[in-house]
Amino acid sequence: MQRPVNGFSKLSKQQKIEWIAKECTQDPEKTKKLLEKYWNADTDLQKTHDEFIENTLSNFYLPYAVAPNFLINEQLLAIPMTIEESSVVAAASKAAKFWLTKGGFKTEVLGTEKIGQVHFMYHGQKNKLVNLIDALQPKFMADTAAITKNMNKRGGGISAINLRDKTDQLEGYYQLHCTFETLDAMGANFINSCLEQFATTLENAVAIHPEFANDKPEVVMSILSNYVPNCVVRASVSCPITNTKSENSVSRTFAEKMYQAVTIAKTEPFRAVTHNKGIMNGIDAVVLATGNDFRAIEAGVHAYAAKDGKYSSLTHCTIENNEFKFWIDVPLALGTVGGLTSLHPLVKLSLEILQQPSAKELMQIIAVAGLAQNFAALRSLVTTGIQKGHMKMHLLNILNTLGANDREKEQLVALFKEQTVSNAAVTEALENLRR
Ligand code: MEV
Repeated sequence: MQRPVNGFSKLSKQQKIEWIAKECTQDPEKTKKLLEKYWNADTDLQKTHDEFIENTLSNFYLPYAVAPNFLINEQLLAIPMTIEESSVVAAASKAAKFWLTKGGFKTEVLGTEKIGQVHFMYHGQKNKLVNLIDALQPKFMADTAAITKNMNKRGGGISAINLRDKTDQLEGYYQLHCTFETLDAMGANFINSCLEQFATTLENAVAIHPEFANDKPEVVMSILSNYVPNCVVRASVSCPITNTKSENSVSRTFAEKMYQAVTIAKTEPFRAVTHNKGIMNGIDAVVLATGNDFRAIEAGVHAYAAKDGKYSSLTHCTIENNEFKFWIDVPLALGTVGGLTSLHPLVKLSLEILQQPSAKELMQIIAVAGLAQNFAALRSLVTTGIQKGHMKMHLLNILNTLGANDREKEQLVALFKEQTVSNAAVTEALENLRR
């Protein structure tokens, strides 16, 4: 039985480890050794990691990989990916190679608008509120001038502060629906600071305004929205459809199968969720490798996938005039400055590998990673099936779980080049080898 603990955050790292090892694990010595094994020998680096979050005990590793050969708007890029799932990086690399001979990926940023809201309740006359918010516009800007100064200098800032009447959905509910341009920053802190100031400005104004003496707007909360339907990027591929097999085209049968697969994902939410999960394999891996917030991206992307009232595919496909076209529109609020970007050494390396992209360029790269991943998954699904390739990539995980040594791994990887991989088949083959 675990006991409650007071002041845990005040304990030293060593004391926290002692506590968790003793209170929550069977073998405290083993736990302590394990946590220490994952520390970095470089104490400065370890301190940097310790200070990212609270109550840090150790590090939790994820593999860091790269998928080369992405031709994006005529520029070749290797894309860094952080993910634990086998076969994702291989699939991305395969899709990059496939499109390399067919003109590569084309991308276009459709918008970069970020959103934040001050949510408040008000039960008085609407026209009084409309007039007040109109009158307060210059004051909202003036009161946030210290926050927006640098962003404005670089060409970003607050783009609009609109009053939205939501009373048809919830009695008395209004918002300041605010839009921002945050350039290369993801902008969460900037947006939230502006919003909290708008809320204070509003509260101060009504506190002394005689017209609101009996029905003051009451602020509930101020926070950015991770739903960014106007911060969207498009990545696409296209190529001719021919009857003869060639490097720069696809066959009609293949194009039609791909079209059907996308159409099914557009029609059927159960399929759309898995289809989009495959897209997120690519997107999240690059989002993580570049130090961005994958929870924010996930939340926003799935909301966007349901924007027409039904959860649907993020990718689209057409077959017109003997041309196969496949593309994704995806909302991505990203940053290449601020946050972890200047703190995490591997994030810095990722940005260097990507040639120091602006946030807009990173949006395009990450959309490509999502599109490539979806293309690779659908290509397997409509041809060989997913398991053949996936299990081949998963073979090492199975062998490691079974405790195979290097020599056994080498022999069994060779053997399974010609055979179907399954847990049972690998277990049996290892047993045979050891006999
Ligand atoms: C597995 O991580 C992702 C897939 O299920 C995606 C898909 O079905 O399109 C293979």
